[in-house]
Amino acid sequence: MTAGTGANGTAGTSGGSAPGGDPDPLAANLHWWDSTVPVHVASDFYDVEGWLADQRGPRAHEAAVLGDVTGLDLVHLQCHFGKDTLSWARVGAQVTGLDFSTPAIEAARHLAVRAGLSDVSDFVCAPLSAAVNVLGADSFDVVYVSLGALCWLPSIDEWADQVAGLLRPGGRLFLHEVHPVSASLSDDDLTMVYPYFEEAAAVVDAQAGTYADVSATEALPGDPTYTWNHGMGEIVGAVVSHGLRIDRLDEHDWTSFQRYPWLVQHGEEEFVTPADRLRIPLSFTLVATKA
Ligand SMILES: C[S@@+](CC[C@H](N)C(=O)[O-])C[C@H]1O[C@@H](n2cnc3c(N)ncnc32)[C@H](O)[C@@H]1O
Repeated sequence: MTAGTGANGTAGTSGGSAPGGDPDPLAANLHWWDSTVPVHVASDFYDVEGWLADQRGPRAHEAAVLGDVTGLDLVHLQCHFGKDTLSWARVGAQVTGLDFSTPAIEAARHLAVRAGLSDVSDFVCAPLSAAVNVLGADSFDVVYVSLGALCWLPSIDEWADQVAGLLRPGGRLFLHEVHPVSASLSDDDLTMVYPYFEEAAAVVDAQAGTYADVSATEALPGDPTYTWNHGMGEIVGAVVSHGLRIDRLDEHDWTSFQRYPWLVQHGEEEFVTPADRLRIPLSFTLVATKA
């Protein structure tokens, strides 16, 4: 899911408002995310049973960029039901996941027990805006944020403030996200149809189903969701202005999920543009250190 395609991977409306007027976007998003949890836990997309059976750790590219996390305190912001969070516990980190969805946090705790990782994990239900208040300032060696998180937040500056507050001096932000250029393009002909820069007005989507299961129209009948894109310069600028030093920023011509139906799989973890199309930036990774 991205700001450009709405929560379920289908076209949204830029700058619109929900039927009935004057909605609370974050409350509407919370309702939608609560409804996704049982669908996502059971989905082929997330493949929880395979992840448990294979005892998978983090994505190979992420592990290579972040390096050895043994003994580090790592917080995963917007952790959903904790699969990515617990993957870092499998390779030695002491992990904390934060998400505003109660069903997501309950599912994460249950998954931790099933994975035998409850001693090295903690899951906390809170909105991103309360992260420092709830988890404590200067508490983590790593803040980790993964695919499909930033688009749910109206202000990248407020997000960076929380990230900087959570990190200890010398701690690192590791962000692996959908590229904001990709988020602004239509799925079929790649024309720019959604905002690239952060706008006050959200992209409103009300399609049934979810990116992880388009057939789940009963559980997810098409309640509206609200997303916001953030340009690359806005993301980098927010991180730097909150006292972090950028160590590396890599824009990738691959992504870890089938962002467009016409992407082709390359290796186990990557989807790329076919050879007859120009490559576009599909995802990016950023590492930054708190002074
Ligand atoms: C796509 S998921 C997280 C990505 C993760 N890589 C995954 O797929 O498991 C986005 C998560 O953001 C959470 N979320 C959205 N808005 C939030 C907010 N304002 N505060 C905290 N969590 C939020 C949702 O509940 C959801 O679990």
